[in-house]
Amino acid sequence: MIPLLTHHPRLMAWIEEMREMCDPDAVVWCDGSAEEGERLAEFLVAKGTFLRLNPEKRPNSFLARSTPSDVARVEERTFICSRRKADAGPTNNWAAPAEMKALMSGKFRGSMRGRTMYVVPFCMGPVGSPLAQVGVQLTDSAYVVVSMRIMTRMGEAVLSKLGADGDFVPCLHSVGHPLAPGEEDVAWPCSDEKYIAHFPEERMIWSYGSGYGGNALLGKKCLALRIASAMARDEGWLAEHMLLLGLHAPDGTKTYVAAAFPSACGKTNLAMLIPPQSYAQAGWKTTLVGDDIAWLWPGADGRLRAINPESGFFGVAPGTSWQSNPNAMHAMAVNTIFTNVALTDDGDVWWEGLTPEPPAHLIDWTGRDWTPGCGRLAAHPNSRFTTPAAQCPTIDPEWENPDGVPVSAIIFGGRRPSTMPLVYQAFNWAHGVYVGATMGSETTAAAAGAVGVVRRDPMAMVPFCGYHMGDYFHHWLEMRGAIKHLPRFFHVNWFRKDADGNFLWPGFAENMRVLEWIANRCQGRVAGHETRIGWTPHWEDFNTEGLENFTEAQFDRAMAFVPDEWRAEILSQGELFLKLYDQLPKELVYQRELLAARLV
Ligand code: GTP
Ligand code: SPV
Ligand code: MN
Repeated sequence: MIPLLTHHPRLMAWIEEMREMCDPDAVVWCDGSAEEGERLAEFLVAKGTFLRLNPEKRPNSFLARSTPSDVARVEERTFICSRRKADAGPTNNWAAPAEMKALMSGKFRGSMRGRTMYVVPFCMGPVGSPLAQVGVQLTDSAYVVVSMRIMTRMGEAVLSKLGADGDFVPCLHSVGHPLAPGEEDVAWPCSDEKYIAHFPEERMIWSYGSGYGGNALLGKKCLALRIASAMARDEGWLAEHMLLLGLHAPDGTKTYVAAAFPSACGKTNLAMLIPPQSYAQAGWKTTLVGDDIAWLWPGADGRLRAINPESGFFGVAPGTSWQSNPNAMHAMAVNTIFTNVALTDDGDVWWEGLTPEPPAHLIDWTGRDWTPGCGRLAAHPNSRFTTPAAQCPTIDPEWENPDGVPVSAIIFGGRRPSTMPLVYQAFNWAHGVYVGATMGSETTAAAAGAVGVVRRDPMAMVPFCGYHMGDYFHHWLEMRGAIKHLPRFFHVNWFRKDADGNFLWPGFAENMRVLEWIANRCQGRVAGHETRIGWTPHWEDFNTEGLENFTEAQFDRAMAFVPDEWRAEILSQGELFLKLYDQLPKELVYQRELLAARLV
């Protein structure tokens, strides 16, 4: 117990009200200490939620297996409860705040019986940053607490920041699985009914029924994107689904880029990129500031500055290997929580893509015996590792700078099997906002639902914008006036395929070649080629040193502009524009017109 908090009357009153409603057996304050972390991990092991991995192979690391009905974000069950329906916009599920509170109060009433309610004070952003936001999560899941320890700054330092009347975002969370007296718990409690509700005007979050990822770790998508995007609109900054990466050129210049890709489309991979050998030899280096969320604001120096509000990675496991992402492999060597991956016979973890050959025997993510060829995946496609960011070997020395890092480029991208070239640069800010606003991508396993259909996902924010997407575009356009040294906008696509379904670009570390061009453009080191869609690299300016067998013809295919595909693209953008019609900025309508005019 930390008695320290008793002098924040608002916080205490809220906790008491929630305690009364949820009726837990006990209330435990979390101080963020290492001892507390160990105690909770032991508790989860005893309960069967955690399996301790072989300490020789994977020190202080654990495997959790969720229930098959609770494996990803549930967008259909995610609500923006603004007072007016129009403020949530057509891309969000809406419910009236009073009705949602009444409905959910019914669910929360007695929902923590037989369980402990943990009080988790946390901070998004370095505690001393002007943008830092405090949240307090009440949760009946110890798994959530140990995850929040990694993903956020949590505990006593945050309470000091909060003082006696500091602002905080109240975050209530229950897995929705109360225990009757004597009833035995299950390893992964949750409820079939799920509600992930946001009250943007009140800056409050209520989440019920899920214990997984973005549904339950409320600092992440709920606070740092949905609630923060509403704060950012009101206060003149940006809360984005973006990675932050530093590119260090041989001449000593540093170029920071922010990149928005939808879920499971390569943010973690790009943020952790290690340049190919020829680059390393030439003196290029990359550093990581963030892999999922960025908060950006106009700095006193006239530049767009950015922080990573998180302090850990909740990264997609499948496909991660010593070949594809050695930095991630180093980062997750210790102190890591794995969720829904497979267990090897020697007490380590495995997932599809970790090694070319699967082990002869595994326990799969559902806890069943698994052998190669049994017809099932060993790891769930949205299985994840939860790891402290500081464990990434390329973490930027400035990653916790309260004043952030200056951003020179904003990159948009998605999974596009056709149409979109490897890279192009937008003509200016308004065109860049249009490029981001009309982004498309194939859906992935990060959210429940169909996988592999191209949907419009403006700025990778469709699942995460806490207000009307049309207003969000207005806000982006307006931000231009607040920034003196404007970043440049780019669009990339690592996922274009040939007629046989093969990727036209090798991707992963080789993406450095695209990043070099982007950095060179930002630093005025290289000319571009003006095309109908934007600026593209000349073949001579595209560094292919050390990239075996990548010919100019292949480059042309990866970059190809196919007028018919772009016609279809513009038409399909019409659907999104119609949906957002009432709030769509005129500038974007004109940008689309201009593009259409350039096509004929
Ligand atoms: P969230 O954490 O869900 O927001 O996603 P993320 O954007 O961080 O996704 P992540 O980096 O974990 O994406 C992983 C997926 O993208 C895996 O399926 C990778 O194989 C694939 N991927 C990443 N980079 C590349 C690339 O350059 N080329 C190709 N073809 N696939 C890539
Ligand atoms: C995403 O889906 O974009 C994630 C994972 O980063 S989650 O935290 O579950 O939202
Ligand atoms: Mn994400």
